[in-house]
Amino acid sequence: MEAILLVGGQGTRLRPLTISTPKPLLPAAGAPLLEHQLARARNAGVTRIVFATSYRAEMFTEAFGDGTRLGMEIVYVTEDEPLGTAGAIRNASTALACDADSPVLVLNGDILSGHDISAQIAAHEKGEAAVTLHLTLVDDARRYGSVPTSPDGRVLDFVEKSPNPPTNQVNAGCYVFRRSVIDGIPVGRVVSAEYETFPELLAAGEPVCGYVEAAYWLDVGTPAAFVRGVSDLVLGALASPVVTANEHGVLLLDDASVAPSARVGGGTVVGAGARVGADARVESSVLFDGVVIEPGARVIRSVIGDGARICSGVVLEDCVIGDGATVGQGNQLINGARVWPNVELPATAVRFSPE
Ligand code: GTP
Repeated sequence: MEAILLVGGQGTRLRPLTISTPKPLLPAAGAPLLEHQLARARNAGVTRIVFATSYRAEMFTEAFGDGTRLGMEIVYVTEDEPLGTAGAIRNASTALACDADSPVLVLNGDILSGHDISAQIAAHEKGEAAVTLHLTLVDDARRYGSVPTSPDGRVLDFVEKSPNPPTNQVNAGCYVFRRSVIDGIPVGRVVSAEYETFPELLAAGEPVCGYVEAAYWLDVGTPAAFVRGVSDLVLGALASPVVTANEHGVLLLDDASVAPSARVGGGTVVGAGARVGADARVESSVLFDGVVIEPGARVIRSVIGDGARICSGVVLEDCVIGDGATVGQGNQLINGARVWPNVELPATAVRFSPE
């Protein structure tokens, strides 16, 4: 079976991490973020996948080549200008080899999901649908596309990011399309699947179906979601075919070192060659390769970019530190603070408590 993977977005909400690396390639528990879904797709029978790239397209080719390492064939179709979700799907479809009636799996490159992809494909075939969307359940649907369905699974409406969503059943960003439906999307312009393609299919009376499964699901769009997703992979809350070793809620990559008196846990990843000093505390955080956490620093629910240095006595909570930055001694950064790459923050420049 063939698939299309959408990986052309700029990932603006994850800046500055996404200045040098597209979101789907950010390191997530020892593998690029998108690899967890890719491995699941392969296990569900996908043998050939088209990457719909745009932003920093060449980095995907460097990371995955022809797909041999993953046991699947990967080809790339690059948009000169981003075409939006459905525009990208249509553009990528020029590289599909299957016939008009075949099902094509479409995945977002920034979703972590434990749902049963094979069962979604089976539901699509059984319903003889034009498109079958994975729908998940959330507590608050206002930030998502709310998708009510009839008892037999037919989609009744698409209500995007509404203050009054009709249901807490939401579009989870994984679709099975009949190939001929993709071929019907307009060519060469920006097209949104959520705002244009899906509502138009409904209006035309096409069978659009929902496959509801409330398995683990996370849209990894923000730093908080990125930290949570990686921690969940390390802790095993989401089983991934590509996450192996983890000990006591910590994943240590090659040549990482943690001082015996340091306290590290809660699903933390210590990247290759990274070092955590004596008496430091690192909780539910993602340390990229070559990071240095000096003695006595405290790092909670934060992402620390490649080669960044967190000096002694620093407190970081819910922060993003860019590649190569230095947070000088005694700084205290909380509540989503972001330090841009290669910035050197002088000692005690930022404090949040008077002592
Ligand atoms: P933000 O800028 O933070 O909203 O992130 P994003 O650019 O990744 O957008 P969003 O989270 O809505 O994208 C969902 C998925 O679709 C991601 O995997 C993106 O890489 C992908 N995507 C979004 N827009 C495009 C596009 O125009 N072309 C392609 N090929 N992929 C896209």
